[in-house]
Amino acid sequence: MDFSIKSADSKNSLATIKTDCILVGVYEDKKLTSEAAELDNQGIISNALKNGDIDGKPGSSLLLREPAVAGSRRILLVGLGKKPEISEKDFRQSVDAAIKSLSQTTVAHLLIALPLNNISGRDVSWSIYSVLSAFHALLYRSDALKSQKGPSSKIQKVAFYIPSSEVTNAKKALAQAKAITDGMSLTQDLGNLAANICTPTYLAKQARHLARKYKFDIEVLDKKQIEALKMGSFLSVAKGSDEPPKFIVLKHMNGKSKEAPVVLVGKGITFDSGGISLKPGASMDEMKFDMCGAASVLGTFKAIGELNLKQNIIGIIPACENMPSGRANKPGDIVTSMSGQTIEILNTDAEGRLILCDALTYAEKFHPETVIDIATLTGSCIVALGHYNSGLFTRLDEAHDKLANDLIAAAKSSNDPVWRMPIEDAYQEQLKSNFADMANIGGQPAGCVTAACFLERFTKKYTWAHLDIAGTAWKSGTAKGATGRPVPLLCTWLINREK
Ligand code: BES
Ligand code: MN
Ligand code: ZN
Repeated sequence: MDFSIKSADSKNSLATIKTDCILVGVYEDKKLTSEAAELDNQGIISNALKNGDIDGKPGSSLLLREPAVAGSRRILLVGLGKKPEISEKDFRQSVDAAIKSLSQTTVAHLLIALPLNNISGRDVSWSIYSVLSAFHALLYRSDALKSQKGPSSKIQKVAFYIPSSEVTNAKKALAQAKAITDGMSLTQDLGNLAANICTPTYLAKQARHLARKYKFDIEVLDKKQIEALKMGSFLSVAKGSDEPPKFIVLKHMNGKSKEAPVVLVGKGITFDSGGISLKPGASMDEMKFDMCGAASVLGTFKAIGELNLKQNIIGIIPACENMPSGRANKPGDIVTSMSGQTIEILNTDAEGRLILCDALTYAEKFHPETVIDIATLTGSCIVALGHYNSGLFTRLDEAHDKLANDLIAAAKSSNDPVWRMPIEDAYQEQLKSNFADMANIGGQPAGCVTAACFLERFTKKYTWAHLDIAGTAWKSGTAKGATGRPVPLLCTWLINREK
């Protein structure tokens, strides 16, 4: 799909623009937006409101065919709720309704003439991103391996009608929104791939493709090199599988040469059977999604490359399978992590933290400004927060409060919500082991918190946040599929760092 910006200047009055359909808003109190007023030739729009054909409530819509307006063959009216300021929620609902109703028509070219700078507390950039993300949600397909494809949308070109004073901003916002939704597509594609295709080797190949396309530096460490680094914890998980592990490092060093980098670490378990602590059979297929943290790092790097962000950003992906076998970890086994800390593996299904801890130690070598890890880490996070918020865990000092608040702000504006959770010493108690420095599980209570506390022990040297995306990275049931989260959050946070 092709998106563009059209300047609303004297040469481009709405009534003369040629397109299949113009999308304009109306309000609940029978008032017209200025764009609707411009098109209200012979009262076609005000009469529709007067007659009650559309009530202007958020989500209401009415398609006017062959309107007496030169240029456009259709006008789609969409209700925006109450004047004067439109709420975020109402705007999103209206856009969703408009796109849904358009998808049932043959409209190929659409002009969006909505009051994009009239959303309460938001700017044109936010509105453009919201529209693109709504299109993305509707248009994303996961039927690459199906013989019979689902119906594809007729919409090909979408232009935004923007006041000339906002055109520069809008163009930038459009490029950013496009980069984010394209990044999400990559994350979703990788997440949706079957685990027999999307192996650690495959992830490494995809990272290499990105590196070639966007001129990232890349290193893919194989088993021997990982052994040389003494990543005993990561390797202990990998050794149960016949698939060789990969440790992927992507570098986009486009900031000042001395600027400390941001490091993104993604959990890349390409299949989590649980290992010897085997998972039950029901829904085990969904453990192909256990690399969605890794996929979100790759999706975010795609956006970073597209936008060529002026920052130093490093992506780290420990990738392996968690399988039962004669070489697999056994409950009670003790391993030595790269940090030197020893770990008693009481449950082989708590493997995410075992691969992440070594990646977090590896990250030290970059003297990072900030490290964010992204992981489908615990079922407990789903119990706590459901499928709406990702879990955001940080320490509680001033630097970490700032990082958490910046992430929360980015999450809100990109509609990719997170909820802050605690990391406190009291929970560390649950990780005590009689035989090693720590156990890899802390029992049922606050399982997502003790998982974060485990990781925290490997992040003392830098500012760090942990995102538990177990409940948000994919959907189950009939809508089964990767969501592309938290790519919007990560990209928005990175983009905001340049402001
Ligand atoms: N990948 C899972 C977490 C998970 C489970 C994500 C279900 C999404 C849906 C992780 O490796 C895991 O198995 N965690 C265990 C930890 C437990 C053994 C302490 C869990 O959450 O049950
Ligand atoms: Mn597991
Ligand atoms: Zn897992």
